[in-house]
Amino acid sequence: MSVTIGTPLQSSAVKVLLLGSGELGKEVVISLQRLGVEVHAADRYEHAPAMQVAHFSYSLNMADPQQLKALIEQVKPQFIVPEIEAIATEVLLEVEAGQQAVVIPSAKAVNLTMNREGIRRLAAEELGLPTSAYRFADSLESFRAACDDIGYPNFVKPVMSSSGKGQSRVKSFDEVDAAWEYAQTGGRVNQGKVIVESQIDFDFEITLLAVRAKNPQSGKIETSFCDPIGHRQDSGDYVESWQPQPMSPVALEESKRIADKVTAALGGCGVFGVELFIKGDQVWFSEVSPRPHDTGLVTLASQFQSEFELHARAILGLVVNTARHSVAASAVIYAGQDGSNLSFSGLDLALAHPSTDLRLFGKPEGFKRRRMGVATARAATIEEARELAQQTAAQVIVNSNP
Ligand SMILES: Nc1ncnc2c1ncn2[C@@H]1O[C@H](COP(=O)(O)OP(=O)(O)OP(=O)(O)O)[C@@H](O)[C@H]1O
Ligand SMILES: [Mg+2]
Repeated sequence: MSVTIGTPLQSSAVKVLLLGSGELGKEVVISLQRLGVEVHAADRYEHAPAMQVAHFSYSLNMADPQQLKALIEQVKPQFIVPEIEAIATEVLLEVEAGQQAVVIPSAKAVNLTMNREGIRRLAAEELGLPTSAYRFADSLESFRAACDDIGYPNFVKPVMSSSGKGQSRVKSFDEVDAAWEYAQTGGRVNQGKVIVESQIDFDFEITLLAVRAKNPQSGKIETSFCDPIGHRQDSGDYVESWQPQPMSPVALEESKRIADKVTAALGGCGVFGVELFIKGDQVWFSEVSPRPHDTGLVTLASQFQSEFELHARAILGLVVNTARHSVAASAVIYAGQDGSNLSFSGLDLALAHPSTDLRLFGKPEGFKRRRMGVATARAATIEEARELAQQTAAQVIVNSNP
């Protein structure tokens, strides 16, 4: 079956509804736009990055099933592409079951990964993949017991949270009560449940991007992998990434085996970001995003098809190519201050080196630790690429305006 793409804004249009309109969604929209897709972008606030490049935009509470259902009925998209986790995923399960639209990658994937408990139990208990030791707790008392059980140091995370929110590393019993309090403030919804994980003493961590896409010859869904992406996290948030991350052939094979298993269980078509911890030849599964991954922004500079183009192609049923052409790195640009109407200067200097590039996301409002842009750089070695990307990011000056 060959893929047909119509004309946007006419009855033949292929319509995509993007749920969540951040910087990753913005790049997905640009990729879809290039292929002539009609894009509808939603988020909780107006003028979100992806809305600025979409045909239509909507601000609503996507965690409210009624509001989400009404939007889907209004837009009537062929594809629904979640970009964030805080969505009324039960609506997506219904939509998929009723064949109203295709949910990317699948309603099951979106539903299971929005909650750390769902994906952890699938990976560790059903699929038997190696993970850190873990316990769940939903009261201070059970939390104290879980911490003692797992030992110290450990990692505590609200089951419904991302980007390090409410997360802490607990070094001893003295810190347990404070960690509980902190976790209660960081959850996405007022659900007190947390996961306690034993600390993995890794050499480095990677994101392995896996793409499930239709092979146009066989019509079957196949999984391909990008080269591993190394990254550095600060307070649960990514600050720089690079590709490739060198690793032993054994660890790479094991990483692919784990990524293949977990993405096959989640099903559907699209890009997945599989987060793994590596020590020598040993690999642990950490978590997976059923969508492009923030550390994968580096693929804008390193691959023939960035993770965003790969996602767009996989959504539409087109052939994908995960090959890398360069060694590259990315470095995050933070607002460094609170406020709207920010401006960015120092750009000439930042871009003086010919193998550097910038993305400024156009977020209407910044706060100190908000990601406003990213710098990328290509170089002969990983060290040089990292250095250059960081230098480029550092040269961008964020200014406040009245
Ligand atoms: N069990 C663990 N052992 C060692 N390090 C850990 C563990 N869990 C988390 N970390 C560290 O904390 C980082 C963030 O954890 P995790 O990916 O679970 O949180 P997150 O909030 O989903 O972050 P993001 O949304 O940015 O991926 C990891 O990338 C890793 O550096
Ligand atoms: Mg993570």
